[in-house]
Amino acid sequence: SAAARTGARAALITPAHQFPLGAALAPGRRDAIVRWARAHDAVLIEDDYDAEFRYDRRPVAALQGLAPERIVLIGSLSKSMAPGFGLGWAVMPSSLRERVRLADTARPSTIEQAALAAFIESGDLERHLRAARGRFRRRRTVLLEAIARELPGLPVTGIAAGMHAVLGLPPGIRATDAAAAAARYDVAVSDLTRYRVSASAGTTESLVLGYGNLSDALVDESVARLAAGIRSLA
Ligand SMILES: Cc1ncc(COP(=O)(O)O)c(C=O)c1O
Repeated sequence: SAAARTGARAALITPAHQFPLGAALAPGRRDAIVRWARAHDAVLIEDDYDAEFRYDRRPVAALQGLAPERIVLIGSLSKSMAPGFGLGWAVMPSSLRERVRLADTARPSTIEQAALAAFIESGDLERHLRAARGRFRRRRTVLLEAIARELPGLPVTGIAAGMHAVLGLPPGIRATDAAAAAARYDVAVSDLTRYRVSASAGTTESLVLGYGNLSDALVDESVARLAAGIRSLA
């Protein structure tokens, strides 16, 4: 009903995993947003971001299958392979296809597209994703155990999918200060308030911890350093 009040005719959504809060769209809300789109003749742009990296259950199918006539599905290899590939895709209703211009028609090159097609057809992409999902799931477990040990009681959310977690801070500690303290201990974390649309938007004091690019061998030490940074503010 909030969407209906806006009068909008399109919405950009990330049902598989939201950045930065990390929520995955609940089943009831998946149905509700499709009902809204049908009722208002609206288009949904589904950014299928992090869909391959779901840990608490099997990966959830894209919403696009529920209403292919009004959902544009977009995805890329940025998370599953590497951002440098610059390879992505859009699946859209034929009514829109003529009207959508590709932002960069020079990339990816035909050779890269052919290589990706061969990679998919051989089953190698699927095998790579299965192995990567296992690796990230294990790293996530080690990270959560280290947080429970070093920073007991602090809430960790947004971890159902993807490669980041949101860590709530103890009362009285501001996220900006905690991120600066972590940097003094050589740990780079983001302050959740950086992602606010406006300063008046409500937020809790939290840190965004990315673990996609964190070496397995350094997880424990990184969390110990982060904890030392946070304790230095108490
Ligand atoms: C919400 C969201 N969607 C998609 C992506 C991937 O973007 P791209 O495919 O342009 O690299 C990101 C990057 O991490 C993201 O945060």
